[in-house]
Amino acid sequence: MLLGNDDWWRDAVVYQVYPRSFADADGDGTGDLQGVRDRLDYLARLGVDAIWLSPFYTSPLADGGYDVADHRDVDPRFGTLADFDALVADAHGKGIRVVVDLVPNHSSDQHPWFQAGLRDRYVFRDQPNDWESIFGGPAWTQVEDGQWYLHLFAPEQPDLNWDHPEVRAEFRDILRFWLDRGVDGFRVDVAHGMVKAAGLPDVGAKDGPQAEMLGDEQVPYFDQDGVHDIYREWRPILDSYPGGRMAVAEAWVSSPERLARYIGPDELHQAFNFEFMMADFHAKSFRAVIEKSLAEAELVGAPTTWVLSNHDKPRHATRHGGLARARAATLLMLALPGSAYLYNGEELGLPDVLDLPDELRQDPAFLRRGESRDGCRVPIPWTAEPGCGWVDPWLPIPAEWTALSAAAQEDDPDSTLNLYRAALRLRRRHPALGGGTLTWLDSPEDVLAVERHPGLVVVLNTGERPVRPDVAGEVLLASGPLEADGSIPPDTAVWIQRSGSSPDES
Ligand code: GLC
Repeated sequence: MLLGNDDWWRDAVVYQVYPRSFADADGDGTGDLQGVRDRLDYLARLGVDAIWLSPFYTSPLADGGYDVADHRDVDPRFGTLADFDALVADAHGKGIRVVVDLVPNHSSDQHPWFQAGLRDRYVFRDQPNDWESIFGGPAWTQVEDGQWYLHLFAPEQPDLNWDHPEVRAEFRDILRFWLDRGVDGFRVDVAHGMVKAAGLPDVGAKDGPQAEMLGDEQVPYFDQDGVHDIYREWRPILDSYPGGRMAVAEAWVSSPERLARYIGPDELHQAFNFEFMMADFHAKSFRAVIEKSLAEAELVGAPTTWVLSNHDKPRHATRHGGLARARAATLLMLALPGSAYLYNGEELGLPDVLDLPDELRQDPAFLRRGESRDGCRVPIPWTAEPGCGWVDPWLPIPAEWTALSAAAQEDDPDSTLNLYRAALRLRRRHPALGGGTLTWLDSPEDVLAVERHPGLVVVLNTGERPVRPDVAGEVLLASGPLEADGSIPPDTAVWIQRSGSSPDES
């Protein structure tokens, strides 16, 4: 066991596993915990510090598992609690921490409370208000006797009533349940939800769907002050366990200042910084987001997080317009101070699958709003044989992904897999890469150049012409081939060790 540093999360590289799509050990077409266990050597070799498992709990999978029917058990499709315990033990044995997803805003409609008609644990009203579901359509569904229940997501995901003490007690207990099983942290789903404005006031007049307002202004169902009381209840529980147990918030709020309120010694440890994920592939927009994020980190006294892809957004190889750009953006991300969250398959350079037949799409957002997140959830190609190591996977794997499979990339020194491995190896060798400060170097408008700790310079060219780096030194890593004269081509990033400095000085 290499574990032991309580602040491990501050500069950790955390790899998100979407269990349904990661690796299938029992051959039923759905990934499982044993599949993750079988790939721990792959993950150790990749060089990640932790894995975050998206939900694997008992669930009808109406929203890919973010509709939890039993928070204390594993869905049979994903395995058993014994498989989970074995996974944690093996991961820890390899020095990999395990973070699990916690879904407190809503449960599944198959949850025993909902099934037993315990309406006071949910948000039932005689009349709906004007709130809309994030997945499209009204946020209310009527039941047989005429009452309506609130679901900010799919109708199969009724919102819990956090004014009810039993709901609060239940989640404190769920935290302890998983902490007792050895988890190192939680990713808190919809961490800005749970508490709704008193009286459930209407949102009122607006142009376009409410979902589009979330980034700009406060709506009465998100980011209410009362949510912070919940985190102040949870933090002492996390702190009562040894070994640095952490929580990271998925909170979509209107400003860095609002986000900062979730973080601190009496609330959560981190929040996802989605602004980096939303930035355009241009030196100027990256720089603006990085400056803003670092200022925000300063504000809360905790390093920020960086994300380029996850299970909710199109993969960055597609979003940024190609693999070269994705690799370049990744090299930038992995050299920034703070922790980095990777999404399974990005290390293979997978694109989003854009041409899934509609009848195979499973995302409830597709059915309600016509937008689908299925394209980033296609199973991971492992082998170079037809099928990529899967039998009848829950979403079809494009035939050409045999060439992108882990097996096909294993021995290719220029593969994306080996780029990620090399970057993570260097990140470990330069302990200051995940921490420390950042100095901006003079550069043309479409070039981003930063010095990370004395000596390590990152240059990203988002322009249209090759640029000669203004730094003398050795190129430690490049996201793509350089010009014969050492210039950096468009859509390429490099890590340069300045002459006269050494990586081990840090
Ligand atoms: C979060 C998850 C997303 C899910 C939603 C409802 O945003 O990341 O996948 O659909 O919450 O739980």
